[in-house]
Amino acid sequence: MTKTWLVTGTSSGFGRELATLLAQQADINLVATARKLSDLSYLDAFDHGQIAKTLLDVTNTAQISATVRTAQERFGGIDVLVNNAGLGYFATIEESDEAAVRHMFEVNVFGLAAMTKAVLPSMRHQKSGTIVNLSSALGLVTLPTMGYYSATKFAVEGYSEALQQEVAALGIDVMIVEPSGARTNWAGKSSQKTIPIIADYAQFKDQVAGTNASVGSEPGDPKEIARLIFEQVTATTPTPKHLPLGHFASVGAQSHLTELLSEIKGVAALSERADQA
Ligand SMILES: NC(=O)c1ccc[n+]([C@@H]2O[C@H](COP(=O)([O-])OP(=O)(O)OC[C@H]3O[C@@H](n4cnc5c(N)ncnc54)[C@H](OP(=O)(O)O)[C@@H]3O)[C@@H](O)[C@H]2O)c1
Repeated sequence: MTKTWLVTGTSSGFGRELATLLAQQADINLVATARKLSDLSYLDAFDHGQIAKTLLDVTNTAQISATVRTAQERFGGIDVLVNNAGLGYFATIEESDEAAVRHMFEVNVFGLAAMTKAVLPSMRHQKSGTIVNLSSALGLVTLPTMGYYSATKFAVEGYSEALQQEVAALGIDVMIVEPSGARTNWAGKSSQKTIPIIADYAQFKDQVAGTNASVGSEPGDPKEIARLIFEQVTATTPTPKHLPLGHFASVGAQSHLTELLSEIKGVAALSERADQA
């Protein structure tokens, strides 16, 4: 049976690789979205009527409604929503620019939530669907200068885990994807940087300043990441709740969670004291 996928942020990176893969499948309709339709011309070579392109900034409510309406009118509904659009920000917590932080939250958290809310009624009605939310390895474990980015991705984790519990019985799967650093535009043009100037944070200066130079040498392969997401959605029932991808995501999360578990166990007796009759 033909399935319809809607993917946000298909102009570059994971979204573009996933859209390219989906566009070549016999049994898939694709709603490819971008902030500039001209960024989607790479799909023309694969289009034989199964691709709809829409203009979509995930912070724009009218464009969200129009995109979902297009999917329904062209293909009769949406089976898989991939909330991929996102951006980063490198800065220490104290030196972060509030406007940049708020914008990142608008895209990474509230944009993802608005897309999900727009698609849920039809998934509930059809009693099936898969929602794929792009978190990050930094949604499981964090690093200096990544605090606010991690805050957006930890938010995606909490939001998605609650949603998993709310919609599992309705036939809807929610898969959270947590990639390590990968060779996309994310650390480059998709991430604003504020280089530390406070002397106490001097040790992080090179880390932020050097980010642009290291773009392109990240270990993660976006094509393979797109394929892994595709395989998990199409071949695994139910889909995994979490999909950490890459060595840092897997090992970093395991060691962070082991440490967290040990900390929580270490104060267990004290925790119990808080509940008094
Ligand atoms: N690459 C990594 O190392 C990495 C690791 C873990 C998680 N991630 C996450 O993976 C997702 C995809 O990122 P990527 O690595 O593929 O980076 P990317 O190449 O920079 O792609 C980001 C995509 O998001 C789009 N976007 C940005 N703001 C948007 C908005 N307001 N509305 C709609 N689309 C918007 C971009 O569109 P424009 O071209 O118009 O800017 C682009 O298509 C993000 O959520 C990111 O946080 C990335």
